Amino acid sequence: MKILGIETTCDETAAAVVTLGEDERGRILANEVLSQIAEHAAYGGVVPEIAARAHVEVLDRLIARALQRAGTPLPEIDGIAVAAGPGLIGGVLIGLVTAKTLALVARKPLLAVNHLEAHALTPRLTDGLAFPYLLLLASGGHTQLVAVKGVGDYVRLGTTIDDAIGEAFDKVAKLLGLGYPGGPEVERQAQGGDPERFALPRPMLGRRQADFSLSGLKTALRIEAERLEPLASQDVADLCASFQAAVVDVVVDRVRVALRAFAGVAGHPTALVAAGGVAANGAIRRALAAQAGEVGLSFVAPPLPLCGDNGAMIAWAGLERLRLGLVDDLTVPARARWPF
Ligand code: KG4
Ligand code: ZN
Repeated sequence: MKILGIETTCDETAAAVVTLGEDERGRILANEVLSQIAEHAAYGGVVPEIAARAHVEVLDRLIARALQRAGTPLPEIDGIAVAAGPGLIGGVLIGLVTAKTLALVARKPLLAVNHLEAHALTPRLTDGLAFPYLLLLASGGHTQLVAVKGVGDYVRLGTTIDDAIGEAFDKVAKLLGLGYPGGPEVERQAQGGDPERFALPRPMLGRRQADFSLSGLKTALRIEAERLEPLASQDVADLCASFQAAVVDVVVDRVRVALRAFAGVAGHPTALVAAGGVAANGAIRRALAAQAGEVGLSFVAPPLPLCGDNGAMIAWAGLERLRLGLVDDLTVPARARWPF
């Protein structure tokens, strides 16, 4: 079974071909990603109109290249998977129309994948992880703690009531005059900083629901930064380190609460999983690995190139759906919002 996956929901244009290995893990035969970061950097964030136009310009070539690298011409593909949302609607429409066209012309099943579900299922592609597991899904647009019980069977245990974690990193970076996207920049700065110099708040710590709130933390950081103006480079590093340390504390506390809630809805988890762009953060990964170890769970996070948006995760989610007969027809809509 070979699945083509197409991803255009945000600022990465991606196409990949994935197949199922004998060990029940995925095999990535091709994984082409073209980032538009340079085109959005000047604006400090993704501009939807620019993103949509950039997807149109490169998607067909990227798909052709993925098929070629995989050594699999379109007639030998078993299904066309596409992220049909959630995301910026212009980009989603471009990916979906392209996938529908390919499915129609080549007479292949269409698999309309939820982008968040694709992040959630990635550890099954990379590690063959069995259900159920506790997932921290953290990206620029989403922050959720989810009991992943099966394909299409998810129980949300917590979410953010304001900013997503990645969004908070991005806003802090912008505030401090660092580049976009902010997460990697803030992490790099934090490596040379003192995490204890600023006593930033840890919002939601100790709350019984596994929800997040990050806007207060961001505001507290802004007040510290304004007090120090003009910022020396060590100030920036210390602010980043203090911010990241606060986020780590909050994440660990929220995961602790979610682990407790997990037992009530899904029994005993096979692992603690981190996915989404924020899962690339080394400090968060290390803290979660230690926390999982303390409660006798393994910690699984995709390798860095599969943390951010990519086509392989879409292809894999499509493969999981096709195996279960969950095929879509050509009327399936593009969705800007699509809770999972
Ligand atoms: O999943 P993703 O590639 O795109 C979506 O938002 O769907 O996630 C991108 C987000 C951005 O907010 C980015 O700043 C954040 O993930 N991110 C990080 C790191 N690398 C990426 N946040 C913290 N530390 C990082 N190393
Ligand atoms: Zn994503």
